[in-house]
This record gives sequence, structure tokens and C-alpha cells, in this order.
Amino acid sequence: MQKLIGPFKQILTLAGLPLKGAIADDQLQIIPDGGVLVEDGLIVEVADFEVLQKANRKATIEEITGDHVLLPGFVDCHTHLCFAGDRAKDYALRIAGKSYLEIAKAGGGIWDSVTQTRHASQDELAALLSQRIARHLEDGVTTIEVKSGYGLNTDDELKQLRAIRSVQESSKADIISTCLAAHILPKDFTGPASAYLVYVLNDLLPKIKKENLANRVDIFIEDGAFSPADAIPYLHVAKQMGFDITVHADQFTTGGSEAAVNTGAVSADHLEASTEKEIKILAASETVAVALPGASIGLGMDFAPARKLLDAGASLAIASDWNPGSAPMGDLLMQAAVLSTYEKLTTAEVFAGLTFRAAKALNLTNRGTLEKGKLADMQAYSCKDYREILYHQGKLKPRMVWKLSEPLI
Ligand code: NIG
Ligand code: FE
Repeated sequence: MQKLIGPFKQILTLAGLPLKGAIADDQLQIIPDGGVLVEDGLIVEVADFEVLQKANRKATIEEITGDHVLLPGFVDCHTHLCFAGDRAKDYALRIAGKSYLEIAKAGGGIWDSVTQTRHASQDELAALLSQRIARHLEDGVTTIEVKSGYGLNTDDELKQLRAIRSVQESSKADIISTCLAAHILPKDFTGPASAYLVYVLNDLLPKIKKENLANRVDIFIEDGAFSPADAIPYLHVAKQMGFDITVHADQFTTGGSEAAVNTGAVSADHLEASTEKEIKILAASETVAVALPGASIGLGMDFAPARKLLDAGASLAIASDWNPGSAPMGDLLMQAAVLSTYEKLTTAEVFAGLTFRAAKALNLTNRGTLEKGKLADMQAYSCKDYREILYHQGKLKPRMVWKLSEPLI
């Protein structure tokens, strides 16, 4: 059964744009007074509303009243939404001047969230995750990556991933799970980092495969987490096992992005510390560079060099990194809008980074633009011109959101 949705004052299709490099706003395809013809959750055609109406008399009409701008649903390609408790005490120490790494060394940081998450049941985690997913959906985020990484042993990592799967089954959003058992070396593991990674490869990853709980593996390469020397063999083996790989790279020190590119990672995320050398390596690769402005805002640190990455020819996605430590806010649009003012991004680059380029970071090619054959994941803002969306710096929220052409709000 076909349905025609519209008319919209503008439809920003984001179609026909490059996967890599800078994009000017005048490259954006804007359809004025447009409509979207959908069937079985997919887009059949995007064109002038009246033209579509005349050519498709049998389609039911979902009429949009008032001026709205339609965009693809956002894809948040990096979150840590499955956690219990909070780190408000860490945050208070940080705004008063203690660094993220100092707090971690003193026993706070990621390990604190591991302890709180280990104490929660699978059902409790699923309930907390569902609330956060619902908030993201209301903000127009229709595809959401969620990492484990607060279990750090086989049982608790599986508990997190099973909680994620139970929410995958019940939520309207698409949830893409990632195993981040290599987040930090757990304090209760006896042995070096390399032995812990071998344990994850031999014990946890086969169970994840067997239960089909995730097809992505992530590692935090950083001082105080894992070195490139430990990470590279881990990533190679994970890849051989059939997982897509991704890396927390260059957050405070470099080394991670080079390891990501050399092991064929789908994305290298963070990049706040990347220099010209890393920018060149990323730009020459197929690895998507993912900026996480929420972590820069949460830690009061520099943003990833997004402008330089784009100008060098890299593919740049923007994700929230929503987590209890470095990025507790979780407002993807607000964070992207702030990043654009500091890094001088075009509106086209921001929306590309929140949609089809973020989908590429998840190895998904069926979403992120509004064109024939793509998922009808869409969001509409109450305004006349697409530029008003970033102008309001995240305060203008979508009035309507559709997942697979079904209206959610
Ligand atoms: O992406 N940097 C490592 N991991 C997360 C933070 C997780 C946490 O602090 O709980 C990040 O910022
Ligand atoms: Fe992260």
C-alpha cells in the first residue's frame, strides 16, 4: 500500500553527495513543496508533492500542515548507552580542574561505571537503555549504535549485549550493537593487557558470535587503556572472525587512528589529538573519521580537527558518544551544531556527518539519504528553511519522526 507524505516546505534529500571530503551548501539537493512516496517502509520517490499526487491517485495521503523541513533520520554511530548509575561526582571534580585520566587513575572513570553496571541486572539495564533510546528517537535519531564495555568479563559483557538485544527487539529504533570488552584492562584481571585481549578473543567473542549478539568490535587505544601493539593483533583476529572493527582513537594521544586504518577499521572515533600525519592517513583511507563533540564538551577539551579532515579528503561523521563519563548530555544535534561553529563546517557537512556518512561508519548503505530504495527513516522540523535547524543550535527539535515510514511522534 503506497502512502504519500507531504507537502513539506523543503525536503533536504542529502542525495548525490560525496562520501568523502568537503561539501558546499550549494551542492545540497533541496526539493521545495515536496512529498515522499513510500511503500513497505521504503522510499519509492521524492519529488514535487502535487506532481506525485497526480501521478499516484491511489496512494493514501498523510497530510502535513504548516511549514516543515524534512531530513533523513539521524544515525548516531557511537554511543555507550547501556550503563547503570552515573558519574556526577567525577564530573564535579572535572569541572573543578581534575583531568579525565587523573580521575580514572584515582579509581573513578570507566571502572566506576563498570562496578555500577555489574551490579545491575539485565532487565534493569534494558529499562535504562530503553529510556535513553526513546529520548534519542524523539530527537530524530532513528539508527543508534550501542556499545558494551562496562562489563569487562564474559558474563557481564554478555549481560550488557543481551540487554541491548532485548531493546533491539522491542524498540522502534534500529540499534546496532558493538562489543567494547577492550575498553580498559579490568582491575580484577590478573595478567597483562595482551592476556586479557586473548581471553576476550577466545572466550567472549565466540559466545557473541554464537548468540549473534554483535557483529562489531571496538577497542580503546590510549595511555591507560590499550597500546597499538596490543590492539593490532586483537583487531586482526576479530576481523578474521568476521567482525567489523572500529577504534576509539587519538583521544588524548596518537597511535589509534593509524592502527585503525592499518587494520581496515570501518571507523576511527574521537581524533581530538590527531595531527597532520594522522589526518593524511585517514584521508587516504576508507576508514570514516568520527568526531565526538559531546566528549570535547564534557571534558572541556579541543574538538577533533573536523575542518582539516574534510579539507584533506576524509569522510567525517559526527556522533554523540553518549556515556556516563565523558559525554553525559546525549544531545546529538546540539553537539553537532556547536562543533560546526568552532570547526567552521558547512550545513551540508554537518547533515552529511549525521546521516549517510555516519551510516557508512556502521557499514550501512541503505539509509541516510531520502531517495528511491532507501529506508523511509525521516524527521521534520517546524521551519521554512533548512538553515534554521543549526541556527537554533539544537533547541529546535523535530516535530515529527518516521521510522520505516511509520510516524512515531
Ligand atoms: O568514548 N574514551 C573512552 N570511552 C568513552 C568514555 C567512557 C566513559 O568515560 O565511561 C569515550 O569517551
Ligand atoms: Fe566512546
